[in-house]
Amino acid sequence: MTASPPFGMLAELTHRCPLHCPYCSNPLELVRRDRELTTDQWRSVLTQARALGVLQVHLSGGEPLARRDLPELVGHAHGLGCYVNLVTSGLGLTHERMADLARRGVEHVQLSVQAADEERADIIAGARAAKHKKAAAAAIREAGLPLTVNVVLHRRNHDQVGAIIDLAEELGADRLELANTQFYGWALRNRAALMPTRAQLDAAEPVVRAARRRLAGRVEVVYVLADYQDRLPKPCMHGWGARQLTVAPDGTVLPCPSAHVITSLEFDNVTERPLAEIWYESSSFNAYRGEEWMREPCRSCDRRGVDFGGCRCQAFLLTGAAENTDPVCALSPHHGVVEQAVAPAVDVPFVMRG
Ligand code: FES
Repeated sequence: MTASPPFGMLAELTHRCPLHCPYCSNPLELVRRDRELTTDQWRSVLTQARALGVLQVHLSGGEPLARRDLPELVGHAHGLGCYVNLVTSGLGLTHERMADLARRGVEHVQLSVQAADEERADIIAGARAAKHKKAAAAAIREAGLPLTVNVVLHRRNHDQVGAIIDLAEELGADRLELANTQFYGWALRNRAALMPTRAQLDAAEPVVRAARRRLAGRVEVVYVLADYQDRLPKPCMHGWGARQLTVAPDGTVLPCPSAHVITSLEFDNVTERPLAEIWYESSSFNAYRGEEWMREPCRSCDRRGVDFGGCRCQAFLLTGAAENTDPVCALSPHHGVVEQAVAPAVDVPFVMRG
């Protein structure tokens, strides 16, 4: 199958992060600072990505502000003609720093928020972070940039959906992403503690619907479903190796941010192979493109071109083979593992990251 060029690149500049969120989807084993790509290597990655067709660059982590060369990398990506999105916890984002980054070419900021009130937010973040986030949101608005507030929802903050929406409005968000936890990396370790109850999900839906009506034209409210409780799998990444690529802090190039969990694949590194070659020719990117790789029930399913069999990472994590149908699908012979995971559980404590 011939792939189209990628549209976006998630550049995970570092895994270093001041927060310790239990829902972190980064790998259990983080890339150490001494294995991170250098400034010149990141510049080369950005140049190669633009030549390959990438238009949107998401500078992320960990916390991208932990990289001293962030301003230079922003300037370089902007100079190449990329739309630059900064994905941040907001810690360390002063007015001066934000103004400088905006001048150099950041065009949008995505700020994470953990809960509606400071006390709970700081418990979830494992750090005194909430106050700084308010200041960061003000700095983003002052720089004149559009702001997306991103909140990962789980058992310990689901009851706050209404108050979180109010907070996002107060922070001046243009867009609010309410994303139920996806269970990869560290989050999978905390699955029992994070899993929302059916009652929480049922209560949140009318609140989100009402907010969408009330805020129409002012704040876009996006609600990412809790896919374990769904019967249809999500069209993960809009298809494997179809639109976006991820470059990990050490230069490993991944078809999706969580693909490292698929230990049956070998991933190339941009320090050893050109990015274009990895995108078009590598075994990892070609593994699940198209439909040839599909097994039943996906192979003969009418929805195979709609949801692509769901998420390859989830299929691997929960069934041991990435070619299997994502077990979130009610037609999957492995669907029982998902049903078991959503069975009512008693509250269990988080294992904090780091
Ligand atoms: Fe990797 Fe879904 S998270 S394919």
